[in-house]
Amino acid sequence: MIKVGVLGAKGRMGSLVGQTVRSQADLELTAEVDVGDSREPLAGCDVIVDFTSPAAVMENLAWCVQAGRNMVVGTSGFDGPRLAEAAKLAGGTAGATGEPHPSRPSVLVVPNFSVGAVLMMRFAEQAARFFDSAEVVELHHAGKVDAPSGTAARTAAMISDARARAGLGASPDATTTQLDGARGAVVDGVHVHSVRLAGLVAHQEVLLGGHGETLTIRHDSLDRASFMPGVLMAVRGIAALRPGLTVGLEGLLGLV
Ligand SMILES: NC(=O)c1ccc[n+]([C@@H]2O[C@H](COP(=O)([O-])OP(=O)(O)OC[C@H]3O[C@@H](n4cnc5c(N)ncnc54)[C@H](O)[C@@H]3O)[C@@H](O)[C@H]2O)c1
Repeated sequence: MIKVGVLGAKGRMGSLVGQTVRSQADLELTAEVDVGDSREPLAGCDVIVDFTSPAAVMENLAWCVQAGRNMVVGTSGFDGPRLAEAAKLAGGTAGATGEPHPSRPSVLVVPNFSVGAVLMMRFAEQAARFFDSAEVVELHHAGKVDAPSGTAARTAAMISDARARAGLGASPDATTTQLDGARGAVVDGVHVHSVRLAGLVAHQEVLLGGHGETLTIRHDSLDRASFMPGVLMAVRGIAALRPGLTVGLEGLLGLV
């Protein structure tokens, strides 16, 4: 039986994780912690799942590593500097040369738990080198506090790396005048546009353009339930990961 704790247990994602864990025969929901609750019940967990906020997650991460607990992080906001900070706290990167500290737990930061979204990112990375232009449009519910989404930022970084490996420069863009934000945010040289709209859940389009053709790769999370198979995979798989920081579900999905 794997003992699972949830940080952000009263939130949209945290409450669904609690409900999902309760429905699994091999998992036991041992601790549910939200703002104002003591973290102590988490000390008895094998794995702690964090769906809190970008402002809260680093303190939670530090606590979990200190307590020697494996941690699955779904909270967004993990840009390059934050991932570096997380790696430092976790005692190294699990896949890096040089062993991470063996007595440290594993920390798995997952920008997107949806299998379809992970595949969308992978397909975008594969396609990026064949097109002159690449832009990302992400669309989310109006309650999302951060922009762009972690998934969009990661997609942009993956596209940017693939373009650099192929020797491609910047996407063509003749814009000389613009209103602030009209061309979106630029993440690693890739323009990322964020839409916030009541009624949406989580959606993303990767737009690729070349000689007389375009390719659009679109993924839609229609319900938060789409994240649960990935969360369960992470909860069950984290004990087999090397100590230190791992980013993304790709390894557990057999995509690396
Ligand atoms: N990785 C993914 O696939 C994925 C999917 C959906 C959402 N997210 C991210 O997950 C996070 C949570 O999303 P949500 O929609 O559930 O948000 P939410 O606002 O509904 O829930 C967040 C919960 O965390 C609690 N919280 C805040 N600080 C805390 C702390 N220090 N300790 C314990 N609890 C704390 C809040 O009280 C709230 O109940 C966001 O960053 C969101 O972007 C990631």
